[in-house]
Amino acid sequence: MARIVGGIACSHVPAIGVAVDKGNDGNPYWKPYFERIQPAREWLAKLKPDVAILIYNDHANALSLELIPTFLLGTAAEFPIADEGFGPRPVPKVIGHPRLAWHLVENLILDEFDMTIANAMPVDHGLTVPLTVTCGQPAAWPFEVIPLCVNVIQYPPPTGVRCFKLGQAIRRAVEDFPEDLRVVVYGTGGMSHQLQGERAGFVNQAFDQSFLDGMVDDPVRLTQISHTQYMRESGSEGIEMVMWLAMRGALGEHVREAFRYYHVPTSNTAAGLLCLDSE
Ligand code: DHB
Ligand code: FE
Repeated sequence: MARIVGGIACSHVPAIGVAVDKGNDGNPYWKPYFERIQPAREWLAKLKPDVAILIYNDHANALSLELIPTFLLGTAAEFPIADEGFGPRPVPKVIGHPRLAWHLVENLILDEFDMTIANAMPVDHGLTVPLTVTCGQPAAWPFEVIPLCVNVIQYPPPTGVRCFKLGQAIRRAVEDFPEDLRVVVYGTGGMSHQLQGERAGFVNQAFDQSFLDGMVDDPVRLTQISHTQYMRESGSEGIEMVMWLAMRGALGEHVREAFRYYHVPTSNTAAGLLCLDSE
């Protein structure tokens, strides 16, 4: 039987990927960040997952405003790296897990989550930066990856409650998969940030710290945060944190905090990294 062995909540700030790609991760601006996240890489290497279900959002790279699926699951055997305007990031291609992906699609749809199916799709920084943060620069990613996109770009995104319930359904589906697989679930994006407008650069450390606490002990409290509250308290892009709640729903009621780091500023945002052991 497949089982979920851990969860990772991880910001996907593009500048983190660029720092690694250009070899700038040891410079004075980036060194403190990369030194402090090292234990998370060690934790993940020890956890030895076979597959990751990586919940993220596409930033109008694979999808445009012409097609906006609320939830989309990648069933392809591999996913090319998107060109976001500067050429694709120089990272290994992402290898999928079609058998588990199709099992998830079938089980989630029969469980009343109407997934869009992506048989071909490039993946952008939302997916590749968390892999870089947690795996560094390997010649090949150490596990297969099933991309699961959530629309947080075009109003209305799904609610936190809905994302949490999707995570719970993912857990049921994984546990119903007959092969012995160790599965890790990523929820990416956040933390508080606003990329445009009068409040560009907005960061709310108190909100973020309280969110990190809730991710460990009381995710149900976090599911009650409305879209308006996210906008007001965590900036216009803070809504990405609903994807953390999808990951948390997949981990079951009790988790153990294995690693936590919160860093401000990262580019013009707050970056969080939280690793949870599934109990
Ligand atoms: C930036 C982009 C993102 O998608 C994000 O989640 C955080 C920051 C940026 O362009 O800095
Ligand atoms: Fe983003």
